[in-house]
Amino acid sequence: MSVPLSFDGKVVLVTGAGGGLGREYALAFAERGALVVVNDLGGDIKGGGKSTSAADKVVEEIKAKGGKAVANYDSVENGEKLIQTALDAFGRIDVVINNAGILRDRSFARTSDMDWDLIHRVHLRGSFQVTRAAWNHMKNQKFGRIIMTSSAAGIYGNFGQANYSAAKLGLLGLANTLAIEGQKYNIHCNTIAPTAGSRLTETVMPPDLVASLKAEYVAPLVLWLCHEQCRENGSLFEVGAGWIGKLRWERTQGGILRHKNQKMTPEAVRDNWDQICDFSNASKPANIQESLQSLVEVLSKVDAGDGAAPNPTSAMASTTSGINPGEAVGQQLPGMTFTYSHMQCILYALGVGMSTKEPDHLKFLYEGHEDFSCLPTFGVIPAQASMMEGGLSTVPGLNLDLTRLLHGEQYLELFKPLPTSGTLTSRATIADVLDKGSGAVILLDVHTYSGEELLCYNQFSLFIVGAGGFGGKRTSDKAKSTADPPKRPPDAVMVDTTTSDQAALYRLSGDWNPLHIDPNFAAMGGFKSPILHGLCSFGFAARHVLKQYADNDVSRFKSIKVRFVKPVLPGQSLLTEMWKEGSRIHFQCKVKETGAVVLAGAYIDLHGAPVDSPSASVEAGGLQSELVFAEIGRRIKDMGAELVKKVNAIFGWEIIKEGKIAAQWTIDLKTGSGALHKGPYSGKADVTFTVSDEDFMEVVLGKLNPQKAFFAGKLKIRGNIMLSQKLETILKDYAKL
Ligand code: NAI
Repeated sequence: MSVPLSFDGKVVLVTGAGGGLGREYALAFAERGALVVVNDLGGDIKGGGKSTSAADKVVEEIKAKGGKAVANYDSVENGEKLIQTALDAFGRIDVVINNAGILRDRSFARTSDMDWDLIHRVHLRGSFQVTRAAWNHMKNQKFGRIIMTSSAAGIYGNFGQANYSAAKLGLLGLANTLAIEGQKYNIHCNTIAPTAGSRLTETVMPPDLVASLKAEYVAPLVLWLCHEQCRENGSLFEVGAGWIGKLRWERTQGGILRHKNQKMTPEAVRDNWDQICDFSNASKPANIQESLQSLVEVLSKVDAGDGAAPNPTSAMASTTSGINPGEAVGQQLPGMTFTYSHMQCILYALGVGMSTKEPDHLKFLYEGHEDFSCLPTFGVIPAQASMMEGGLSTVPGLNLDLTRLLHGEQYLELFKPLPTSGTLTSRATIADVLDKGSGAVILLDVHTYSGEELLCYNQFSLFIVGAGGFGGKRTSDKAKSTADPPKRPPDAVMVDTTTSDQAALYRLSGDWNPLHIDPNFAAMGGFKSPILHGLCSFGFAARHVLKQYADNDVSRFKSIKVRFVKPVLPGQSLLTEMWKEGSRIHFQCKVKETGAVVLAGAYIDLHGAPVDSPSASVEAGGLQSELVFAEIGRRIKDMGAELVKKVNAIFGWEIIKEGKIAAQWTIDLKTGSGALHKGPYSGKADVTFTVSDEDFMEVVLGKLNPQKAFFAGKLKIRGNIMLSQKLETILKDYAKL
């Protein structure tokens, strides 16, 4: 049997719980462990009179069954008092069931001010007062469940119930907005339209129907909607007789009746009436954004002159029914101009982690540097601006929920190094739209020009969750594809730690999505805290490759492709593993702390053959230890498998020159047939040695006893110190380290 739903420790207020549906809810909550406030004014059905007996009776019933409850006799119009009772008795408020109600049925013509006002005061204003009094408590505790009680009379209308219908549908409007405002605090608000036999319905229903439509058939829905496991929010349900159904809005495809530069006429409305009201292929807008989006599309269609289609059906049909690749592909977004100076180049370099601590970063951070350069990956910034302005939502044939957009992949190609200032124009075109089943992929090609000269080309691969299944193709020859790295340990590794303000800094380059800064917004997207921009990690990894294999020479950069796999949190370390294959550098990027791959299938193509910075630095009079490591590398190649068996450990090295770490090496004698690579280990090395280049050579050449070096503080060892002895096997002819 599945686990029963418990409300242990939860404090539940049920208004109007002295009888009918409210009583049933109160008993059901109490039976499952809730601490219940039973509110009832104890009046008659028209709102007259007052008595404590109704609430008291239900409290006694609950207590008799071993439950916990207190009574409150105030009118819901004094919402604060009801919540105060909950706080006084139980110290908190978790669930509010707005249920209290009266009836003052009259045909519309005979409805008095009193009939109107009393109904509104109890139903609509009462629910408002009670809920508002509970709201901040729920917000602070980041939990709340609220039920509004509407009615079929409100949804569909009912003769003689104009006052009641209006108030009841007012409650739905109230719930719709509370659902939106409460979502980020885990406050959910749903609405029910119940049908049950009670004193309110006994005057309108035959007695046997009153008897058979039991209130106990409604309570289970209310309990589920109020449970902490239930994610439902902002929904409307009809419930009764043991049946539950959910309702939503439906909208016809409608028709565009306005023509560019022409007046819109009532005759056009008359002549297109059937089409306006035709529910075939109707859409179901779920929120105000979806509702507005189609209007924005209409504006752009009419502006473009094609909203004036003689038969508007075809014009609207494609846009409101989701994705129409035939219409979308080839469409251009509005052109975009981007003006920048050295400021933006420097800001971007800082955003992707460059620092004055590294002397070779200065040429990207100081406009007075003789080689002042703009990082190649800055090329995504002007291109992205064309999307950021909301251009995508204006494309005909793409009726999308852009809040569900994920950046899937990125390709960037430079045709010449980016200038350090200028005015660039970008032209974005929908290159293709793919149907991946679980979502749609939009390939957006953006060409960026300086005057007439093409500077760079970007391809954004955008994944729209849930927008698939429109019957489109799965792949495209227009897509720039990713490439898997070779199946050997990486040739080089580089690590950089992002700061906790990395995303706050990177966003200043133009990606203002609050997901990267606003904790509440991040929570709505399902993240514990704001995440780093994918393109920020992309910038980190690209400059690692540029440093490792192109000596930071921006003219060597040709193109880059990456797939974004997982988010990175500001403050985590990014580790780039690199493989050299001709002029292509394959790479992947991991979060060092977790080992999770965040950028995959990635590569950078360079102009000309890559320069390998380790050997370059030796030639430039760098480290003597490079030669020893080169020899270690050869030995591992020869007898790696044997060494792995014997040693079974990973050794990290930090070689110090002039007080700073000048090189890091990993000797991996644990995986496969062993490997040596430059850079730190992507996980945790079993033992790590820190030693100066000079002392390393002394030890290796047998001139300095390693134990003495250790006790003299010249050789520092972290991790499993005993493993150091095993190194002898590979350094035999050099030393006894
Ligand atoms: P009911 O008359 O048995 O219960 C309503 C309770 O609210 C009564 O105990 C009454 O004393 C209390 N109440 C009235 N004014 C109050 C006030 N100002 N402050 C505090 N308590 C007050 O009626 P029933 O059928 O259980 O209705 C519950 C809710 O469900 C109402 O909001 C009603 O409009 C709604 N509803 C019921 C339907 C049905 O088929 N029973 C159909 C559609 C809606």
